[in-house]
Amino acid sequence: MVFPNRRQVLAGLGGGLLLSTRVRALRAAVPANLETKPKFETSPFQLGVASGDPSSDGFVIWTRLAPAPLSPDAGMTSHRPMLVTWEVGENDTLSHIVCRGQALAHPELGHSVHVEVSGLKPDRPYWYRFRIAGYDSPIGRSHTFPRPGASPARVRFAAAGCQYYEEGYYTAWRRIAEEPIDFVFHYGDYIYENGDSGDGIHQHNGRPFRALRRHVGPECYSLDEYRRRYAQYKTDADLRAAHAAVPWIVTSDDHEVDNNWAGDSDQDGTPAEIFRLRRASAMQAYYEHMPLRLTSLPDGSHMQIYRSLRYGDLMNIFVLDTRQYRSDQVYGDRFAGQGPDVWSPERTMMGNAQEQWLFNGLAHSDTRWNLLAHQVMMMNLAFRKSGHGPVLYSMDQWSGYMYSRRRLLQFIEQNCPGNVVNVTGDAHRHFAGNLAYDADDRRPVSVEFLATSISSGADGAGDNDSFSRSVRRENPHLLATTDQRGYVLCDVGRDVWHADLKVLDRVMERDGRLSTYASFAVERGHPGLQKA
Ligand SMILES: [Fe+2]
Repeated sequence: MVFPNRRQVLAGLGGGLLLSTRVRALRAAVPANLETKPKFETSPFQLGVASGDPSSDGFVIWTRLAPAPLSPDAGMTSHRPMLVTWEVGENDTLSHIVCRGQALAHPELGHSVHVEVSGLKPDRPYWYRFRIAGYDSPIGRSHTFPRPGASPARVRFAAAGCQYYEEGYYTAWRRIAEEPIDFVFHYGDYIYENGDSGDGIHQHNGRPFRALRRHVGPECYSLDEYRRRYAQYKTDADLRAAHAAVPWIVTSDDHEVDNNWAGDSDQDGTPAEIFRLRRASAMQAYYEHMPLRLTSLPDGSHMQIYRSLRYGDLMNIFVLDTRQYRSDQVYGDRFAGQGPDVWSPERTMMGNAQEQWLFNGLAHSDTRWNLLAHQVMMMNLAFRKSGHGPVLYSMDQWSGYMYSRRRLLQFIEQNCPGNVVNVTGDAHRHFAGNLAYDADDRRPVSVEFLATSISSGADGAGDNDSFSRSVRRENPHLLATTDQRGYVLCDVGRDVWHADLKVLDRVMERDGRLSTYASFAVERGHPGLQKA
């Protein structure tokens, strides 16, 4: 291998750049402790490749060196920084390279590599791969977005998340990899932090099941434990295939850190300054394993993950972070009635800075559509246990933050009525519905597609379980729900937003059959779902 000299690496870690392509990566000189002769007994690209956060002239490409994903240090025998060669080309065999360079895999970042490629042509596919010590990574495919002023006829994407490794195969990722889409939106719960749940019988929605495959190790607290968990999840070939097929736009939810965490609070009452140490480890591991830009590199226990992307004049995408800045859940974070704390103006879902950023972005948005891509349900879903008793709401979803919810809906109604679509997740079943201020309010202000899980919840109970019956009765704005695994597929045209709720008949066996549970359309300018 030919090493770049010190000047080449200083020039943006992009030694060997061609044409006007520019690259952004961590700024660093060739370190004095560079591993000059990296050696691996097997390919270090076991975790595959990924790309993400496309712009009209580039995207991030990602990999992590991990020859033995579940071993200590992922099997890396040298802990020194290493140079990894990358290349981007215009065809799937990479016989026509448009740019290449070298990037440092830092041991401090688990030998992950994030390269921000730019200077590419808009709205076209590219292919990429990495190389080190005679090993080639798999070839991944990415895609640039159209120019900001371009007028594309459509954009298609899949929304998915909640991929509890123990509770099902990732068949949905395999199907997503085959879909003709422009990107994936991952709403969170990429990993679950829980330890190995054992060989006992578990219950989900009244259905017993045994873990299909088991987490390695206990509940994650340390950086090494989180790293190993991401590595284990990425040993799944279907997940790697979906990453290699299209660019992803990711955000994190609760299980990347701890169940239902909120701001500085975990679910166990740990002192904030102690929980922040765990949060820092969790966020670092998240960054290390996602195709994120350098702007999302964590700083201690903070990670900048809310951001916006633009797809021509068709759609602005606002990716939200409703975990890091939110007030703690009230009423013990249980399903509860909506008491006064839920309406308190002191409590927030997004935090002031993010809310102002979002409102400013929406107020100035000139695209046909605005996608709010976030974590948890916005629908204010009411239900009764076993179909009777008091009406209850989730204190973890927007229904526990009604003041924030109302303020966002008011802003949408006054500033961009009829072009805002919310895509969310976390509830482990599909929900499609209208968003109004109150249950008896017949005027929808916006709409929501909540994508079910990839695997969390095992095979599921379908749409005639007692929860489905209860929520259908209590929620006039809810148009569809089912407890099955799958994803939401959106096909966004200039005037109509079409969405399919895709479901698998089973995930506890391989090759579950995919079908469309329900389809909806939203007409631009007319907030409200129509059956399609
Ligand atoms: Fe989840």
